[in-house]
Formats: sequence, structure tokens, C-alpha cells
Amino acid sequence: MASDPIAHYARRDFMRIAGSGLAALAVAARAHVAVAQTAGSPLKIGMVGAGREGGALGRLFVKAGHPVMFSSRHPEELKGFVAGLGSLAQAGTVDQAISFGDIVVIAIPYTAMEQIGKAHAGDLARKVLVIDVSNPIARRDGEDLVKWVSEQGGPGLVTAKWLPGAHIVRAFNAIGSGRLLELAHRPGEPVGVPIAGDEPKAIAVAHSLIREIGFEPVLVGGLAMGRHLVPGTPLGGEHSPAEIRKIAGSLH
Ligand SMILES: NC(=O)c1ccc[n+]([C@@H]2O[C@H](COP(=O)([O-])OP(=O)(O)OC[C@H]3O[C@@H](n4cnc5c(N)ncnc54)[C@H](OP(=O)(O)O)[C@@H]3O)[C@@H](O)[C@H]2O)c1
Repeated sequence: MASDPIAHYARRDFMRIAGSGLAALAVAARAHVAVAQTAGSPLKIGMVGAGREGGALGRLFVKAGHPVMFSSRHPEELKGFVAGLGSLAQAGTVDQAISFGDIVVIAIPYTAMEQIGKAHAGDLARKVLVIDVSNPIARRDGEDLVKWVSEQGGPGLVTAKWLPGAHIVRAFNAIGSGRLLELAHRPGEPVGVPIAGDEPKAIAVAHSLIREIGFEPVLVGGLAMGRHLVPGTPLGGEHSPAEIRKIAGSLH
């Protein structure tokens, strides 16, 4: 098990869904079926984007016991940040973080996504999971990009187009960075995280990882549903898993 942490992560949900596709995973998620526990099976995580959201998420992965490489185009600027997180955290370039990760988390302005794909699509396609946290936002990325992404079917499909072959799951797109640490492992019912993806194994790994850092993943559909996982839409913000299922059921 320790020699293949990805298999350990994916095994139970992957076996459950392998024969019956995404619908079965949705059913499994609804039933709160336990996923693989991760003790003793750390995954190396490469963070592309270590700003507000990437920094907060990466901190949660470190807290859960995973080695994390935070990246920047100026990695020396991350030295103080990673030093405060202990020995599991390190800083590197974007290239280094992508090489390092068993999985890669991308939390960058959406305008930078196409360039990341041009430079790294081949490497990203070899990862079992690429979590896309990024959103097209008019005030930062411009109205034209937001309109174009919408015309292409939304950010899930556009990320897939820009990162061909990558096993993408959209997640954490609309939970504010300032709230992540506080909401993780909150007492009582966990906060739900709507996720969208097309690949059962990637979804299963994401599912385990999200649970491990203290949230409850709720699969709302394939990457085309990723258009609903942006701030300011009904699924945006903080919801219980049951609320997410209810909202997702009214979307198409
Ligand atoms: N902030 C939130 O609460 C929140 C919540 C959910 C989702 N998101 C989404 O997450 C993404 C990041 O938001 P943020 O608030 O974390 O932004 P941020 O604090 O401005 O951080 C942006 C990060 O992206 C990196 N970056 C920018 N251009 C890059 C490029 N061309 N290549 C590689 N890395 C690049 C920056 O690294 P450098 O050091 O190289 O500049 C920085 O680490 C956005 O798409 C946003 O919509 C944000």
C-alpha cells in the first residue's frame, strides 16, 4: 500500500464506480460511503499558484500530512511562508512543482491557464489528478474572457481544452480563501465542496483528499457542470452537502 499511495487513495471508490460510471459515484457520495483513509499514504502535491487560495489549500494538505511544493514564478518569495509550515512544505518553480506532484492543484488567475497548458500539458496529463480551483472573473480577467469561456461551455470544458489529456476535477472554486482554515474539520456537519469531473479515478482521489482535509465532496456532474462552480452562482459560498445536492438537482 505504501508503495502505491495513489492506488490506496483511489481503490475503494474506483472499484465502486469502475463498472457503472459517474452516476454510481454520485450515489456513493449521497450515501456518505466511507472512502479510503490515508494514514501512512502521503501524496506529493504540487501547487501551481500559492496565493490566497493556493496557499490556504496547500496549508491544509500539509496539515493532513502530505508533502507539498508551493510554486511561484519567484519561488524565493515563498521561503518565509514554507518555513512556517514545517518540513513537509517546500517552495519551487512551476516546473518543479508539476514534476514533484503525484497530483497537481492549479489556483491561478484564469488568464494564465492557457499558458500553463501550452508549457505543461504533457506532464499534467501524466498526473492521476489535476484539481482546477481557478475561475474566470470579469474584474480580474476581463469581460471578454468571461464571455468567451461561457460560450465554450464554461471553465470546466475550457480547462480541459487548455490542458488536453489531464484528469481534471474542479473543486474549491467558490469557498473563500479566508474561510478555508476555519471551515476545515468544523464540528458537526462538514462543509460541502461541490466537485465536477469526468474521470472516475481522478474523482475518487479528489474525493478522498477533500474528505481528509475536513470537507465533504459532492459530485455535481461532469466537467460541463464546472460552469456552475464559480463564485456568485447558486453553488458558490458555504453550503452543507445536502444543500449542494438540492441546488445541483435544480441546475442543468
Ligand atoms: N481567493 C479566493 O478566495 C479564491 C477562492 C476560490 C477560488 N479562487 C480562484 O483561485 C485562483 C487564484 O486566486 P487567488 O485569490 O489565490 O489569487 P492570488 O492570491 O492573486 O494568487 C495568484 C497565484 O497565481 C500565480 N500565478 C499568476 N500568474 C501565473 C502564471 N502565469 N504562471 C504561474 N503562476 C501564476 C501567482 O504566482 P506568482 O508568485 O508567480 O505571481 C500566485 O501564486 C483564481 O482563479 C480564483 O478565482 C480564489
